[in-house]
Amino acid sequence: MGKKSERSSFTSKLGFVLAAAGSAVGLGNLWRFPYLAAQYGGGIFLFVYVILAFTFGFTLMVTEVAIGRKTGKSAISAFRSLDKRFGFVGILATIVPVIITPYYCVIGGWVTKYLAVYLSGAGHAASLDGYFGAFISQPWQPLVWFFVFVIATSVIVVLGVEKGVEKASKIMMPVLLVLSLVIAVYSCTRPGALGGILYYIRPDFSRLSVKTVLAALGQLFYSMSLAMGIMITYGSYMPKETNLESSVRQIEFFDTLIAFLAGLMIIPAVFVFSGGDESAMGAGAGLMFITLPKVFLSMPGGQFIGGLFFFLVLFAALTSSISLMETIVSILMDKLGWNRLFATVSTMVFVLIAGIPSSLGFGIWSHITPLGMDLLDFFDFVSNTVMMPIVSFLICFLAAYILKPDTIIKEAQANGASFKSEKFYRIMIRYVAPIGIIAIWVSSMAAGLGLFSW
Ligand code: TRP
Repeated sequence: MGKKSERSSFTSKLGFVLAAAGSAVGLGNLWRFPYLAAQYGGGIFLFVYVILAFTFGFTLMVTEVAIGRKTGKSAISAFRSLDKRFGFVGILATIVPVIITPYYCVIGGWVTKYLAVYLSGAGHAASLDGYFGAFISQPWQPLVWFFVFVIATSVIVVLGVEKGVEKASKIMMPVLLVLSLVIAVYSCTRPGALGGILYYIRPDFSRLSVKTVLAALGQLFYSMSLAMGIMITYGSYMPKETNLESSVRQIEFFDTLIAFLAGLMIIPAVFVFSGGDESAMGAGAGLMFITLPKVFLSMPGGQFIGGLFFFLVLFAALTSSISLMETIVSILMDKLGWNRLFATVSTMVFVLIAGIPSSLGFGIWSHITPLGMDLLDFFDFVSNTVMMPIVSFLICFLAAYILKPDTIIKEAQANGASFKSEKFYRIMIRYVAPIGIIAIWVSSMAAGLGLFSW
């Protein structure tokens, strides 16, 4: 990836859609979305998220993919080649995966541990109250699983066998979809689940706040792998014959569907197992690991289904962590001329060290709480809530006022392809997206810093 001389193309539209969806569908959908939705009022978060996905998400993804296809370059070089003054956006966009990859791998380690627990037949233990908390607060165990996950990711990146992983994901992604459906139906049909379903799908407008909107926006960027140049890189591999608009719609739809189902698996179950206690919704980052083992325990064949589920989550997490790490590696190779092995080993060492605080933040370093957050939450906040909106705003600004919307629209219409949302796109990219992003960002930062409260 990123090597101009070796720039290959996807051979089909399906190839592009699946590869981009493989990068998009990951822990963001399965782990992050449900706990945010639970925390930020359920239905209202879902409502805001879906609206933003099909407006802001669509606009930004079209823009990034079009920039990539037009320039044929990966993020850092793409911005500079479009306009010298925007070269720094490429650098900002590169910082985002540098922050995300370490903590992403910490969560990947938790998933690996849970898979091992299910494979060893100990799913029952994982469903006990306090199991998850006891696990993440130890110093060594989570670190060991984190190392395992990072090393697995690095080995795949060094061997350059992503193509094999991509092929496998053509089978795994549909299986994940079907299994998610099965588990969601099971969760939703438990006695007492109705309250949880309503909490999840019925928007309560009294809980609408700027913070909710910003959280949904950050989740959107994260889940769709926007604002860090990845979609620009994917776009640069996209053949001109492929219809850009409909590909973006498909990726968006698939990504949102998996996130929606993940919420449907987890949130009603939280309700069932907490006896309808809404305060259980605020469990945060551990929600998936705390609630799903209880669902599996009560399910016929739950030990097997739990194992299969964590296997598929691990797979989805790996496909995402591979492309996150590959982003950093390909930049090191391009910019510093390092070979793949050296670039990957350096990145691996960096990730191994940089992830340690996020892992220890739940145990022996839990007293370190910048802005009142544990360390993992803090890094997540800095990348998704602070950095990504800034990068996205700059991309919108570049597209709307420097390149002009016509440039992007022309790219979407290459080879006579249709672009049905042309009018909508023009309005979104010029006014709604940049103004909306900045307004949400500024008001929420101000609220967060306590300048005034909402
Ligand atoms: N979208 C991925 C997920 O939902 C996470 C992610 C964010 C990502 N940015 C990325 C993955 C860039 C690959 C590349 O889990």
